[in-house]
Amino acid sequence: MERSKCATAVALAFCATLLVMLPEVSGKRFIVGGNMGWTSNVNYTLWAGNQTFYFGDWLFFVYDRNQNDILEVNKTNYVSCNAEHPVHNYTTGAGRDVVELNVTHDRYFITSKGSCYGGMKLHVHLSRIPPPPRAAPLKSHSSTIRSQLVIPAVVTIAAIWDSLLIRV
Ligand SMILES: *[C@@H]1O[C@H](CO)[C@@H](O)[C@H](O)[C@H]1NC(C)=O
Ligand SMILES: *[C@@H]1O[C@H](CO)[C@@H](O)[C@H](O)[C@H]1NC(C)=O
Ligand SMILES: *[C@@H]1O[C@H](CO)[C@@H](O)[C@H](O)[C@H]1NC(C)=O
Ligand SMILES: *[C@@H]1O[C@H](CO)[C@@H](O)[C@H](O)[C@H]1NC(C)=O
Ligand SMILES: *[C@@H]1O[C@H](CO)[C@@H](O)[C@H](O)[C@H]1NC(C)=O
Repeated sequence: MERSKCATAVALAFCATLLVMLPEVSGKRFIVGGNMGWTSNVNYTLWAGNQTFYFGDWLFFVYDRNQNDILEVNKTNYVSCNAEHPVHNYTTGAGRDVVELNVTHDRYFITSKGSCYGGMKLHVHLSRIPPPPRAAPLKSHSSTIRSQLVIPAVVTIAAIWDSLLIRV
């Protein structure tokens, strides 16, 4: 009887921990170039300079599939706009491609369609410091979820401990 109560308390604590951790997994989604998307005549060096990228964030490339593509290259080929030896070809053909920032080293993306020379190339450098609480709706939503989950979980666990102590 007491043993099963104890097991329940442990299981609850475990579940509460998992639920608290879950909202932290989702990263921020960046639409590359904002309203302009991935196109010629946008200086993506300027655009990237305005953003703070963290490990776990996502890049969304939105573009005209008949005009452009998206290739990851190394730094040398980024500088020279050489698309002949891509590290990865993210082009799926839909004009909407997703890149997860799941490695810590710098990333370099270019189009192979010539506009690279005009600035259609993106260098992503991840910030090392852990993300501060952001004002973005996604994050504030997450904190709401957290406090809604944590408080009932703590109250439940405390109640179970109390009942165990009283009966011992
Ligand atoms: C950078 O952000 C500021 C403030 O939101 C904005 O006014 C400016 O146009 C942005 N610059 C670029 C290149 O996106
Ligand atoms: C990038 O790849 C090319 C081959 O495509 C290679 O010659 C060059 O050394 C590489 N540069 C870096 C910085 O790794
Ligand atoms: C990238 O992949 C797409 C889709 O498979 C393909 O059509 C395209 O030719 C590839 N581009 C390069 C430069 O390899
Ligand atoms: C990063 O994510 C891509 C797909 O989103 C996957 O193919 C790749 O293996 C992942 N790399 C690491 C180091 O997790
Ligand atoms: C983009 O803007 C940066 C910073 O002002 C500048 O150094 C760079 O030359 C521009 N790139 C192009 C292709 O105009």
